[in-house]
Amino acid sequence: MSITIFMLCLYLNIAYSDKNMSDVGFMFGGFFKLGGASDQELKNSNMSAQEIHTDGGLSEAGQVFYNLPLQFKNSNTTSVFSFSTTFIFAVVTTDPRFHGHGLAFAISPTRFIPGAQPNQYLGLFNSTSDGQSSNHIVAVELDTDQDFEISDIDDNHLGIDINSLKSANRSSAGYYNDRGVFRRIDLSSGEPFQVWVEYNSTNQKLSVTIHRINMPKPETPLVTLKRDLSSCFSEFMYVGFTSSSGSNSSHYILGWSFRMNGQAQEIHLSRLPDIPGLLDPNDMGGGGRVHKKILIAILSLVGAVIFLILIYGVVMIVRRRKFIQVLEDWQVLYGPHRFTYKDLFIATKGFREGQLLGRGGFGRVYKGILPFSNVQIAVKRISHDSKQGMKEFVAEISTIGRLRHPNLVRLLGYCRRRKELFLVYDYMPNGSLDKFLYRLPNNSILNWKHRFKIIKDVASALLYLHQQWVQVVVHRDIKSANVLIDNDMNARLGDFGLAKLCDHGNDPQTSRVAGTPGYIDPEIVHSGKSNTGTDIYSFGVLLLEIACGRRPVETQTSPEKVLLIEWVLDCWDKGDICEAVDSRLGGEYVVDEAKLVLTLGLLCSHPIASARPTISSVVQFLDGDSQLPDNLLDLIKSRNFGGWSGQASSSLSSNFPTDQTSIASLTFTEPFASSGR
Ligand SMILES: *[C@@H]1O[C@H](CO)[C@@H](O)[C@H](O)[C@H]1NC(C)=O
Ligand SMILES: *[C@@H]1O[C@H](CO)[C@@H](O)[C@H](O)[C@H]1NC(C)=O
Ligand SMILES: *[C@@H]1O[C@H](CO)[C@@H](O)[C@H](O)[C@H]1NC(C)=O
Ligand SMILES: *[C@@H]1O[C@H](CO)[C@@H](O)[C@H](O)[C@H]1NC(C)=O
Ligand SMILES: *[C@@H]1O[C@H](CO)[C@@H](O)[C@H](O)[C@H]1NC(C)=O
Ligand SMILES: *[C@@H]1O[C@H](CO)[C@@H](O)[C@H](O)[C@H]1NC(C)=O
Ligand SMILES: *[C@@H]1O[C@H](CO)[C@@H](O)[C@H](O)[C@H]1NC(C)=O
Repeated sequence: MSITIFMLCLYLNIAYSDKNMSDVGFMFGGFFKLGGASDQELKNSNMSAQEIHTDGGLSEAGQVFYNLPLQFKNSNTTSVFSFSTTFIFAVVTTDPRFHGHGLAFAISPTRFIPGAQPNQYLGLFNSTSDGQSSNHIVAVELDTDQDFEISDIDDNHLGIDINSLKSANRSSAGYYNDRGVFRRIDLSSGEPFQVWVEYNSTNQKLSVTIHRINMPKPETPLVTLKRDLSSCFSEFMYVGFTSSSGSNSSHYILGWSFRMNGQAQEIHLSRLPDIPGLLDPNDMGGGGRVHKKILIAILSLVGAVIFLILIYGVVMIVRRRKFIQVLEDWQVLYGPHRFTYKDLFIATKGFREGQLLGRGGFGRVYKGILPFSNVQIAVKRISHDSKQGMKEFVAEISTIGRLRHPNLVRLLGYCRRRKELFLVYDYMPNGSLDKFLYRLPNNSILNWKHRFKIIKDVASALLYLHQQWVQVVVHRDIKSANVLIDNDMNARLGDFGLAKLCDHGNDPQTSRVAGTPGYIDPEIVHSGKSNTGTDIYSFGVLLLEIACGRRPVETQTSPEKVLLIEWVLDCWDKGDICEAVDSRLGGEYVVDEAKLVLTLGLLCSHPIASARPTISSVVQFLDGDSQLPDNLLDLIKSRNFGGWSGQASSSLSSNFPTDQTSIASLTFTEPFASSGR
């Protein structure tokens, strides 16, 4: 009754043999159903079928073999030839709970395997023959049922069977993709799969691979077995398939190609046969019209999705445009310096407390080592909950990112992540100047030569910021903690967090007073503006600080020494300004240089901004290219320092015209103008 072998279409069936007798192969391009009685449909294909009689028709089982024997080895030698075969199969079930036992590709000494039984024996063996070496059978099983008796691993696996259903090697059904990742497949899903079985006689390795159809063969085989098959194989063997499908499933072979001593020919499946329950891997749909409807539905869905994505994209672009324009100038220029958060996270060991270098203007600074390049960096982490933080961040990047000077700390890049901003700087292993001045033991204190060099370095950086760059950059936070010392004891000005760009000639405007107490120009308190003059003021304080080795304001000392400026002026007034020089130097300093630094420091930190020299004049004084006027003490004193300390003497100030700017220009234009180049 069961016409279970169909031979509905036979596209191609070629048997071929080369000059070498053993170099034969065949290609079968039709399809057939395994497990049945009639081989009528196979008569044109050099194949024949045999039904396995079963217990009341409940278990359909059968075999199909290629009619002609193939020579697998020479009579006079022992090694088996290389061979290669590939076939496409599908397991179609009407009831997913009963998907049959499985099927197998078999190499047998006889055209059919006598005494084979269905069910777990897959039409290959029987209870007595299973495991006998006299079988001389090599098979690849595609097992869809788990038999604990023969220790099957699961109900969806491939195995290499040598004379026994206890596979010599096996694996769950699936393939390894390009990246070597295992992807499971369901053998009894109704989808067609292609199997490759290859034996290499040089390394005696049998390998089995499986994948969806129309896909290239995976590089990595699923199962391999290294075994000398010569004892198992006779000189001539038959090849075919056996199957035990059960009553609720059908096993189909949809193409088969075999080649001895070579690569099996590719099977081309342009169209899958119309088998009920067979899933077309290309669209997984049903027949023609249903196909088209599904295709149209899918296409319109895809179209709608694309349309929505486009609209979303336009909305996002419109929403972001403003932001992009704000950031454009520096993003375009500094785009390549964008670091990934991951890199910075790894570099700073997750912003660990132990990596903390200090707390700067707006946030913490961490030490780090960039992965791969091993470059040491300092990462400044800024929270910007407020828009204020963002403003400053943009200011810092746009300013410092473009500035290049040997006495400036280099900004390597930045990173933005949610509410945090990160600035990546060159790491300065020796730390900041205040450490050298205050936190080292007395015997390793900074010598005068280094101090004078550091002063010149900072002046040179400031000259660059104020006068040599395209725009006037006001640093706004010059202090010893922001002067960093590199490996060669060069000073580098850092932390431009407060920097503000001002175009040359424009009156710089600031919205808020920034800086560090002790370094803040008293004028800024009422004018509220910072400019190059406020930087000169802080620089003057820094000069005194370096020369005297003490902080601008020191509360734990005698009252006349609390304010550094006042104390230095006091020493000078009393006849010897050098008395103010750091006592820890033990008198080891160049007197002329120390005098220059101290008097220049006083001049720069003059309470009246217009009385202060410009940075280019400062540089010339430091280089000895111009001389400070001899009567400088009188000039400075007559500027009324008492006013700065908040104890203005009315008798002194009454001596001065009210227009301070004109005084300054009257008094100081001469020496500073003469110092011009
Ligand atoms: C069957 O095999 C014989 C011998 O190799 C060959 O001549 C013949 O063409 C084959 N028939 C078909 C249909 O391939
Ligand atoms: C083995 O037999 C084949 C032919 O079957 C012959 O070509 C080959 O030379 C023989 N080899 C040896 C080592 O005798
Ligand atoms: C499964 O096979 C049995 C026996 O032939 C049959 O009675 C039953 O209806 C089948 N189940 C399905 C879902 O086809
Ligand atoms: C098992 O198969 C062998 C041949 O492989 C046959 O001789 C034997 O009779 C079979 N036994 C049973 C119980 O079917
Ligand atoms: C079984 O196959 C896997 C995958 O190819 C292989 O790694 C393993 O060595 C094989 N085991 C044996 C015993 O050959
Ligand atoms: C400064 O750096 C140099 C070079 O790394 C090092 O030799 C020196 O000891 C450092 N000085 C201090 C005070 O850390
Ligand atoms: C370091 O020098 C200062 C000033 O000379 C002195 O007051 C202090 O005691 C010295 N400290 C040590 C540890 O010698």
